[in-house]
Amino acid sequence: MSSRGVSYAVDRLYAASMRSRTIRDAVYQRWNADEFTDLFEHEKMLADRVRVRAYHEAITRQIRPDDVVVDLGTGTGILAMFVARVAKRVYAVDHSDFIEVAEAVARHHGFRNITFVQEHSGSFTPPEQVDVVVHEQMGDELTNEDMITNLLDLRHRILAEGGRILPSRFELFVEPDSLTTSAHVPHLWELEVEGIDFGFLGATTLLEPYQRRRYGRRRVTCDEVSQLLSDPAPVVSFDLDVLPDASVLPREVGVTRRATRAGSLDGYLVYFRAIFDERTALSTSPDAPQTSWRNRFLRTPRRDVVPGDDLSYTVQFPDLRRPSTWSVAPLVTDG
Ligand SMILES: C[S@@+](CC[C@H](N)C(=O)[O-])C[C@H]1O[C@@H](n2cnc3c(N)ncnc32)[C@H](O)[C@@H]1O
Repeated sequence: MSSRGVSYAVDRLYAASMRSRTIRDAVYQRWNADEFTDLFEHEKMLADRVRVRAYHEAITRQIRPDDVVVDLGTGTGILAMFVARVAKRVYAVDHSDFIEVAEAVARHHGFRNITFVQEHSGSFTPPEQVDVVVHEQMGDELTNEDMITNLLDLRHRILAEGGRILPSRFELFVEPDSLTTSAHVPHLWELEVEGIDFGFLGATTLLEPYQRRRYGRRRVTCDEVSQLLSDPAPVVSFDLDVLPDASVLPREVGVTRRATRAGSLDGYLVYFRAIFDERTALSTSPDAPQTSWRNRFLRTPRRDVVPGDDLSYTVQFPDLRRPSTWSVAPLVTDG
């Protein structure tokens, strides 16, 4: 078999196995627990002062002295320790072996009101009802770390009447943007390199087998985004304190944005806001203070945009947990 054939077969096998929810869940949980045995992942999250400050502020303001709290996905135990300073008791849950580090840190600092439990949240049941579930389950694309499933499960099973999730309110954005010159990678059929014109390839099917699974989707950092081209608005918003089920969230959203800036439309940037309360929110927008999250970028062929142009597109997220299934289809693009 040619190398192209092997890659094709691997992609198809992967896609077929991921269609099974059971296989997907098992693979994902194994991968997630393993991912967070990488010390650097935790160092990166603690070095993110914007993230840590938002949690510290919100926890200090919102957790009460008689609260029983679960910290879902405790990692280094940092949020559990913030909570333990103010709450009655904390159950710090993590399925990763790394929980032994969190336990050592809490012991070193003399915390006596934290119980560490190495378990997946789905099989964790505390011996008492819980007032608050604190978590940082936000992936680069917000919902890709199974945040909604895990938190709704805990809300239904272990939260007391009137109990709350912190943070509970979220907004997901998919916004037209320009990348910086160095970050912009043209499609092959857009290129003319020293007199060699690849443009004719756009009218053929020759490149199709080579547009592999991640073609058209990549992650970028805020530094690689030059500007958003219009005023943003969330394409999906939800509140985990009241959301009945993930199935009520839309799988397709039609969007129209009026361009407010001139620039090249290079694609659509995915970012989110996590709202703790009226005073504290975390945003992964390129216009907000930079965090350790990266942004998914859904690229389109480059075109120039001037203020007043209407940019209409449909965003599809057939599976909110798998950003590899997300896409943007531009509709009308007139001025
Ligand atoms: C993004 S890290 C956050 C760590 C820490 N809370 C912090 O803010 O620095 C997520 C952690 O949740 C854990 N985790 C993810 N899903 C989980 C689940 N369903 N049950 C238990 N632990 C989980 C991971 O192993 C990882 O340590």
